[in-house]
Amino acid sequence: MLEDLNRGHQATFRSALANQLARPTRESLFPPDATKQMRKFTSGEAAALLGVNDSYLRKLHLDGKGPSPETTAGNRRLYSVQDLHDLRQLLEKTARKPGDYLPGRREGDHLQIIGVMNFKGGSGKTTTAAHLAQRLALTGYRVLAIDLDPQASMTALHGVQPEFDLPDGGTLYDAIRYDDPAPIQAVIRKTYIPGLDLIPGNLELMEFEHETPRALAQGNAGLFFFRVREALAQVDADYDVVVIDCPPQLGFLTMSALSAATGVLVTIHPEMLDVMSMSQFLRMTADPDGRDRRQAAPTCRMTGCATC
Ligand SMILES: Nc1ncnc2c1ncn2[C@@H]1O[C@H](COP(=O)(O)OP(=O)(O)OP(=O)(O)O)[C@@H](O)[C@H]1O
Ligand SMILES: [Mg+2]
Repeated sequence: MLEDLNRGHQATFRSALANQLARPTRESLFPPDATKQMRKFTSGEAAALLGVNDSYLRKLHLDGKGPSPETTAGNRRLYSVQDLHDLRQLLEKTARKPGDYLPGRREGDHLQIIGVMNFKGGSGKTTTAAHLAQRLALTGYRVLAIDLDPQASMTALHGVQPEFDLPDGGTLYDAIRYDDPAPIQAVIRKTYIPGLDLIPGNLELMEFEHETPRALAQGNAGLFFFRVREALAQVDADYDVVVIDCPPQLGFLTMSALSAATGVLVTIHPEMLDVMSMSQFLRMTADPDGRDRRQAAPTCRMTGCATC
């Protein structure tokens, strides 16, 4: 009785503390009328992103070719991301070889799925995944970013509030759950960067960690580690690159991402204990005795290792 009362108080206290901590952050990051917007790029930045000279960009503008950038009082040109995409289409028409200005998949190329992972917390996974996805979108690739971490940090970075904007699901869990999965298209949303779509995350993703052992015990999990891959197959033709931000553990979510991945990016602090932890992570993913893990990643290769 006393224990129940105590537990009740603890739960109330935890929830009050969570609200108290979250409110100032939420109010400063997400005022009620806030929507995230991408800034415009100066002509120098635009030229660098497109891979042309600034003078050529100016000439196109003076000749009235391509989109009209915003011009400031000092006659500086400012280009939006959509302007850059339109310019890429224009430049590609006179490119020396296909793909000079419009990167992305050519006939026969596979969708690239990059899992950013490591079971070390705070190693820069989310920061790396978000910047990689945004940079790829700015350079003209069609990108899908997936937040597979229940902490939902990458979701918040893209202006989606996990507690408020996803009251009835809307994460990848909807598309990979065992009971009546939804089509993956239902959980993909546009972001403030043209060319970058997002599947947000929230605590509901934890359901997959809880449900998988249950489904395995009942014998109806099938090949659970193929669920992310199978869900992504539904939108294979719509993207060039998928970037998955994984949680800091080698659980069922990470294993499913590993199975879907064509490449893995491991982020790490260049410190002894972190390197030892990464070695353990790599050993676990390649463990010859770990049948499930080996089956989970038959074709994946290490794309890179980022230090921060
Ligand atoms: N290259 C970097 N240089 C300096 N600081 C960085 C760098 N990358 C990330 N950080 C900082 O390190 C902290 C942790 O980063 P981040 O949240 O991306 O890690 P994470 O691996 O996703 O964490 P978690 O395991 O909790 O998901 C953040 O404060 C972030 O701003
Ligand atoms: Mg993270």
